[in-house]
Amino acid sequence: MLLGVNIDHITVLREARKVADPDPLDALGICKRAGADQITIHLREDRRHIQDADAINIIELSSLPVNLECAIASEMIDIACKLKPHRVTLVPEKREEVTTEGGLAVSGEQPKLKDAIRRLQKAEIEVSLFIDPTLEAVKCSENLGVEWIEFHTGKYANIYAMLYTNLSKTHHSIPELELSRKILKQMLDDELRNLRLLSCDAMERGLRVAAGHGLNMQNVQDIVEIETIEELNIGQSIIARSVFTGLEQAILDMKAKLIR
Ligand code: PXP
Repeated sequence: MLLGVNIDHITVLREARKVADPDPLDALGICKRAGADQITIHLREDRRHIQDADAINIIELSSLPVNLECAIASEMIDIACKLKPHRVTLVPEKREEVTTEGGLAVSGEQPKLKDAIRRLQKAEIEVSLFIDPTLEAVKCSENLGVEWIEFHTGKYANIYAMLYTNLSKTHHSIPELELSRKILKQMLDDELRNLRLLSCDAMERGLRVAAGHGLNMQNVQDIVEIETIEELNIGQSIIARSVFTGLEQAILDMKAKLIR
């Protein structure tokens, strides 16, 4: 399974102090050495993390394909067409959000999306849509003629965290918590089944399927088992672990989890 490493989180640290370090460019060679398949970056409209100069340099210097995430705003599409990354993943953006909190409203944004996709494909950039795992979003993506979709796995990751992180084992004997654990387990199974069915459906419609958001060393296993998902884009958890293990080891460890 392919791994895109979202190196934005390196610039989260840099921008917290508005200094020069750590520089995401220094991650390119390390990602390549550790076996990453793709570099993913998100140039936000408010430039709170990755800056224009980062995007320019990363796209120019990376020997791995670069997946540029951006909003459908025409300014961002202009930049993407100029920089010509390997792929553009269109994502929803809200100024107040801490991270990308949901998938694109694919049916509600049809004209804007159509225009953005047409311009990107004309510039020979493959296009992916970051969508919630719903049948409607898959069908709309097919109709829009994109090459890829990326399923937002935030809901799956949240349920996983509630089930295995917040409900500590010391609460084993409390019946109410056992009940909620049972409900959460059912929700997790439902979400996984939904992702499995939809990624299979999407593949049959000729779409290539990626997934990402909130995935980490603990929760990634069940997603890896969905064979129709070709690629995962993972950022926060890899960069967080790299503080302790170094970036190369953190990527190697994640890559080992992605072996099928
Ligand atoms: N894929 C997309 C489209 C995203 O917007 C993000 C978050 O930046 C990710 C993957 C990676 O999410 P995380 O940082 O939670 O691993």
